[in-house]
Amino acid sequence: MKYPIIITSIIFTAGVLTIPVVFSDDDRREYRQRSVGVAPIFSPTYKEECSSCHMAYPPGLLPARSWKKIMAGLETHFGDNAELDLETFKNISEFLISNSADDSVYRRSRKIMRSLNDKDVPLRISKTPYIINKHDEIPDKLIKYNKKVNSLSNCSACHNKAEQGLFSEDGVNIPGYGRWDD
Ligand code: HEC
Ligand code: HEC
Repeated sequence: MKYPIIITSIIFTAGVLTIPVVFSDDDRREYRQRSVGVAPIFSPTYKEECSSCHMAYPPGLLPARSWKKIMAGLETHFGDNAELDLETFKNISEFLISNSADDSVYRRSRKIMRSLNDKDVPLRISKTPYIINKHDEIPDKLIKYNKKVNSLSNCSACHNKAEQGLFSEDGVNIPGYGRWDD
């Protein structure tokens, strides 16, 4: 009567070996975010101080060296004064630098980094070669001369989920034009 034991152990082993790999919704969302976006990380202080004039740009859109330079020049920030008190300055600098594109595993961050030379220190996301390249077929009349957009810096005007760090083509809707099909 050895068979029942053998059969039982076969069933048992098969059961152990075929335990399905379960991906939760969170895993799937994370996987999608990695392949079409940048890390959706924001700090409350960053949101409060850096989203009154434009969207809070996800830190994974620029290298740390760019964030350092931007933070060092807040007094004359693209024609505005965005100066902060010392404590807030330190808090936001630390946040941006530690979540920058440099070591990110997210696809868009890596592409932005790869498009830069080591010595490039872009002050704008919209002036990085990768981002310029991705938008070079969109005519000026849909960006610069489009009152609801005004400039390529205004990511969230066209990318519905820019503030969650998502930049897939299927989430694009250009105001006054609609979906973009190339
Ligand atoms: C008083 C308004 C104001 C505040 C506050 C402000 N900015 Fe800006 N920022 C601007 C303007 C104006 C531009 C240029 C936008 C344009 O060209 O369309 C800009 C552009 C930028 C860009 C470049 C966007 C691009 O073209 O890729 C970055 C990055 C940026 N800001 C980061 C920050 C950070 C970080 C903070 C918080 C410390 C901040 N900003 C706070 C007004 C502001
Ligand atoms: C005028 C609307 C508009 C603005 C503003 C805009 N984009 Fe886009 N973006 C598009 C369109 C349209 C595409 C698709 C281009 C194509 O496929 O030819 C695109 C493509 C992209 C892609 C590549 C997506 C893919 O699947 O390949 C990224 C990343 C991106 N944009 C990031 C940004 C960021 C970051 C900003 C702000 C600094 C920005 N965009 C501003 C319209 C816009």
